[in-house]
Amino acid sequence: MPDDTPDTPNTPDTPETPDAPATSGRPEPAESPLIGSLRAAVAAAPADVPLRLHLAELLLDAGHGGAAVAEAAFALSHAPGDPQARALMARALGGPAPSVPVEQPAAPARQGGGFDWTAAEQEVGDVLPPRFVATPDTKEAPLAVDGSGDPGDASAYDVEAPDAPGSVRLADVGGMQEVKDRLEAAFLAPMRNPELRKLYGKSLRGGLLLYGPPGCGKTFIARAVAGELGANFISVSINDVLDMWVGNSERNMHQVFETARRQAPCVVFLDELDALGAKRSRTQHNGMRNTVNQLLTELDGVDDVNDGVFVLAATNVPWDVDIALRRPGRLDRTLLVLPPDGPARDAILRYHLRDRPIESVDVGKIVKATEGFSGADLAHVCESAAETALLDSARTGTIRMINTKDVLGAAKAIRPSTEPWFAAARNVAMFANEGGVYDELLAYLKKARKL
Ligand SMILES: Nc1ncnc2c1ncn2[C@@H]1O[C@H](COP(=O)(O)OP(=O)(O)O)[C@@H](O)[C@H]1O
Ligand SMILES: [Mg+2]
Repeated sequence: MPDDTPDTPNTPDTPETPDAPATSGRPEPAESPLIGSLRAAVAAAPADVPLRLHLAELLLDAGHGGAAVAEAAFALSHAPGDPQARALMARALGGPAPSVPVEQPAAPARQGGGFDWTAAEQEVGDVLPPRFVATPDTKEAPLAVDGSGDPGDASAYDVEAPDAPGSVRLADVGGMQEVKDRLEAAFLAPMRNPELRKLYGKSLRGGLLLYGPPGCGKTFIARAVAGELGANFISVSINDVLDMWVGNSERNMHQVFETARRQAPCVVFLDELDALGAKRSRTQHNGMRNTVNQLLTELDGVDDVNDGVFVLAATNVPWDVDIALRRPGRLDRTLLVLPPDGPARDAILRYHLRDRPIESVDVGKIVKATEGFSGADLAHVCESAAETALLDSARTGTIRMINTKDVLGAAKAIRPSTEPWFAAARNVAMFANEGGVYDELLAYLKKARKL
């Protein structure tokens, strides 16, 4: 469906550019009495998300873009997964969230009609979407990095500066539009916008937990988030933090956060969070409990120590993550990262074939034949296709290129490694979905008829 919404030229103060939403100081029209009464109602019931969204919608329609963003942000901080809140935020910030079907009145005037997501991504990333490009041209680094991420900081944990070579951006992540939209609405947009950041203050202090089957891009996406933010990035595998000596793991954990605080704004990425697992067999090891506690202390931080420190975490087994870590203000938001969709598989396949001798490979065909394959599976498929061609060449004595048949054959020979994960996830989603933490997973399983 083309989203060229007919322009409704009744919003002279709507931000003109998608990247400059909600700037203070711009004169906005006087608020109507209806908005006034809704404001009063919201003041009386601040946690009422639907009410607040209603207000945000009215504000947006009346041309109070900045105020609408603020209300939508508040709603999102209470209900990060709420599709309506997400859609509204996306709209308020410059465009509809394409994957969220929400009935809404025509979007207010935008320059030249609907928001061109891809064009904006290209503009921001300055790269072609399906390719990996090593040097993102950081046109705007929204979170200015003061001290330019001085690497002279003697620390065991490497801080990556935002413009480090090899850093990736969301445009490098193929497909996965829903994940990108969700990241944009719940994490990136508020962080880029200083007013929103203030508003979000507390809730951004908590973190976002990426979960999903192995090999499907959680680590990759976390790196892309860092690239998007133009913030410093510390990536630590929990296994690196853990140490056999009593007390060392806690000290390491503390050091990670201390480094991040010195380098703020900084994203701390805790990969393989489940290594701190709450599994009884593991917690018998007493040191683990202390390490979890240390992480809780770091996350809770007193006063403003964690200003500018943002936490992302990833795990294949969210059900092994200590429940205390998932409480509000900690890793309280979750984001499901599913096996790569069609466009993502296309990008991944092209990436892994780019330096190989290939001949008229029909990537589209392979994409169709690899539903459910993880990024790692696809890498393996390309590898074994190359092997087949090589062995063939050696046997016949004539060198031949890798063709579609080789790749399809390789794909047929393996089962997607994500299957066992879904088998486990199914049970958890059905029987241990306390507080709706796995709603996203449940919805997917239903849609994919995996239940
Ligand atoms: N959407 C994607 N676009 C491009 N490459 C991807 C995508 N998803 C996964 N990959 C590739 O698959 C590999 C495995 O992903 P990774 O982030 O390590 O998975 P996880 O952390 O979920 O186990 C990555 O190195 C990356 O190259
Ligand atoms: Mg990983």
